[in-house]
Amino acid sequence: MKYKKNNKFIIHGGKQLHGEVFVQGSKNASLPIMSACLLSKEKIVLKHIPDIVDVHNMILILKKLGVKIIKRNGNLYINSQQANGEKLDCKLAKTMRSSLFLLGSMLSRFKTATITAPGGCKIGKRPIDIHIQALKKLNVKVFNDGELIHFDASKAKASKVKLRLASVGATENIIQFSSLLEGKTVIENPAKEPEVVDLANFLNSMGAKITGAGTNKITIYGVKSLYGTIYTPAGDRIATGTILIAVAFAGGKVEIKNSIPEQNEKLLQILVKMGCKIKIKNDIITISKTSSLKSVGEIATGYYPNFPTDLQSMMLALSCVASGKTCVSENIFENRFLTIPELEKMGANITKIHEKQVVVNGVKMLTGAKVKALDLRGGASLVLAGLYAKGVTEVSNAHFIDRGYDHLEDVLTKLGADIRRI
Ligand code: EPZ
Repeated sequence: MKYKKNNKFIIHGGKQLHGEVFVQGSKNASLPIMSACLLSKEKIVLKHIPDIVDVHNMILILKKLGVKIIKRNGNLYINSQQANGEKLDCKLAKTMRSSLFLLGSMLSRFKTATITAPGGCKIGKRPIDIHIQALKKLNVKVFNDGELIHFDASKAKASKVKLRLASVGATENIIQFSSLLEGKTVIENPAKEPEVVDLANFLNSMGAKITGAGTNKITIYGVKSLYGTIYTPAGDRIATGTILIAVAFAGGKVEIKNSIPEQNEKLLQILVKMGCKIKIKNDIITISKTSSLKSVGEIATGYYPNFPTDLQSMMLALSCVASGKTCVSENIFENRFLTIPELEKMGANITKIHEKQVVVNGVKMLTGAKVKALDLRGGASLVLAGLYAKGVTEVSNAHFIDRGYDHLEDVLTKLGADIRRI
């Protein structure tokens, strides 16, 4: 799809950020929770859901499955009573990874599901072998005809599944699928990300019996049916991290509300080491930065609670303006350094060691340039670098950023940034 207008950010660097932000609802909690609404035939209200493209696409897919959804003042009023088992809309399913979360709820509700083999995306191949291996262990039949993958759960049986990798999506699919599957299902080596805990809390609020979310073993006792509920997903920890790094770049002092500080523990530790001041009171993080930054030395992404891959591009960008060298290792995705050539257009000095590791040599200043967002979080890293760079930075392909951020330019403008959209 060609985006003609309103798809560029124009940023004049050098403005400090001051004020307070109420962080958007978590994208990566909202998407699996929206999928899990298929598991109940009663009314559900989801509150403070972010107004982002991935949520909009998920609404379209759910409506194609016959789910009634009304969006009002940031809340979603959902009723899946009339949902039917048609093939997930392949055209839409291809547009995003998040529809894969529907696999677990569709199989539970309709007993069969057909999805396109996810085409992967810019940051990696995005295979689904772990999802398939786990579902097969639960006696789901899987048939791949090349373009489409067909699943049949008519003879599914509760069992113990051990994930090869702590895949967030696979964990969330198994939790959804086994919530209404008679018997005891155990997930070993599950993802421990907060979004998995949010999904489990949501389902338990509907009468599910899920324990151990956030630990090394999740146990699910299937129940006969799930009630309706009113639920508010947690604040978005990656959007929180984005604002923290924005202040670390631009300087100033900002209060961040609706965050859960311990979910950003690794980032907060790094920012303090680099020279930022952090104060935490209840769910409010106050960050200020008045002096120049020094390198933290090493940033390595890993499964939660290690440093999140979704903040890697932004921290790589911040390291470009910290004094000293920073070794950045991306251990989750195979191609998540896409933003490097764009940062180099702004004067960054980065040496690639191998496809999963780079060394950033800090420079005094970045200069505004015309750069392209190539993926969601890489695009955000360029906007943040533009807040710091001397002169004007133009970030095109803003639609990538709209996938995960709820009007990022408005949030930054309210804090004093000089950013507009054309
Ligand atoms: C979720 O993606 C998030 N997306 C991603 O956020 C996040 O980066 C990722 O978890 C890791 O935290 C949503 O929640 C919508 P994975 P997911 O399955 O579930 C490999 C963002 O920017 N893998 O934990 O797709 C996979 O290739 C997005 O908000 C297999 O090999 O991530 C990757 O290397 C980007 N086989 C690693 O595991 C599988 O069957 C982690 O993937 C599944 C995954």
